[in-house]
Amino acid sequence: MKLPSLHHHHHFVLLLFFFLSIIGSVVGGPLPNTSAKPPPPLPLKPQPTPQPPRRIGILLPRAFSVLDVFGPLEIFQALSRQTRLELVLLSRDGAAVTTEPANPAMNKHNSSFFPAVPATHSLAAAPELDLLVVPGGMGARSPDLAPEVAFVRRAFGRLDYLVTICTGAGIAAQAGVLDGRRATTNKASWATITAMGPKVKWVSPARWVEDGKVWSSSGVTAGLDLAFEFIRKKYPNGTAIADFIAGNMEHTRVTDWRQDPWSEMFGVPRQN
Ligand SMILES: *[C@@H]1O[C@H](CO)[C@@H](O)[C@H](O)[C@H]1NC(C)=O
Ligand SMILES: *[C@@H]1O[C@H](CO)[C@@H](O)[C@H](O)[C@H]1NC(C)=O
Ligand SMILES: *[C@@H]1O[C@H](CO)[C@@H](O)[C@H](O)[C@H]1NC(C)=O
Repeated sequence: MKLPSLHHHHHFVLLLFFFLSIIGSVVGGPLPNTSAKPPPPLPLKPQPTPQPPRRIGILLPRAFSVLDVFGPLEIFQALSRQTRLELVLLSRDGAAVTTEPANPAMNKHNSSFFPAVPATHSLAAAPELDLLVVPGGMGARSPDLAPEVAFVRRAFGRLDYLVTICTGAGIAAQAGVLDGRRATTNKASWATITAMGPKVKWVSPARWVEDGKVWSSSGVTAGLDLAFEFIRKKYPNGTAIADFIAGNMEHTRVTDWRQDPWSEMFGVPRQN
């Protein structure tokens, strides 16, 4: 009696599978062939590739860090001897910008050690830019950055590239343009700056981070390595030109974006 019962049971299971597969092919197409390889991803929709940036703007917030500005400026000026570039230096009112903090508490020894850099344009008169560089420094912690933050927010959509150096990421974060993107900043100022962008995917360790049109560097000198990598990737003959400029500057480059001993030194955990 047991064998026929099993036999019937077997038939029932086969019938069940038969109906299930019919339902499956009606409802969701044929049952998946689990041993098949997944289909290759669809090719990405072609996007117009921006030309290498020609008109480069540097934002000058008060109390900017000197090398955040003049590091990339040194490198792009060398590049301007290889290809035509145009420099735009932006200040909120078009006047020269001092590195002296507006808040005397940020200058507790009353030093007078502050160069001023003349601007070429006010924010209101800024021409269209291909690339905007946003430096950091003491000024990036100022509560009085509304004009600069508003400018970055307004200009962003028209830029081919936005580059932040060091704590300049805090200005871009306040403008909201880093939301949902991967970005990094100075590891010594990590807690302060990352709090300015709770929706940003902050990356550590990172010497620099590239996320589409947004490139961000870690602290001060990381801006040099970002600039070299940017030139290498975005300009024709960029690899040879970046090597040539770095050689002339006698700069030992970091070429691996993940190489960042400062994350560990400043206790910033690995993330993103
Ligand atoms: C399932 O996929 C494998 C690997 O592509 C293939 O060799 C096999 O013939 C497929 N079986 C069926 C039933 O389509
Ligand atoms: C700071 O230094 C300037 C000179 O550079 C001087 O005129 C001024 O009195 C000093 N202020 C204080 C608070 O010491
Ligand atoms: C590439 O750049 C290097 C360094 O500036 C230069 O020596 C070389 O002539 C360039 N090659 C081309 C094809 O532009």
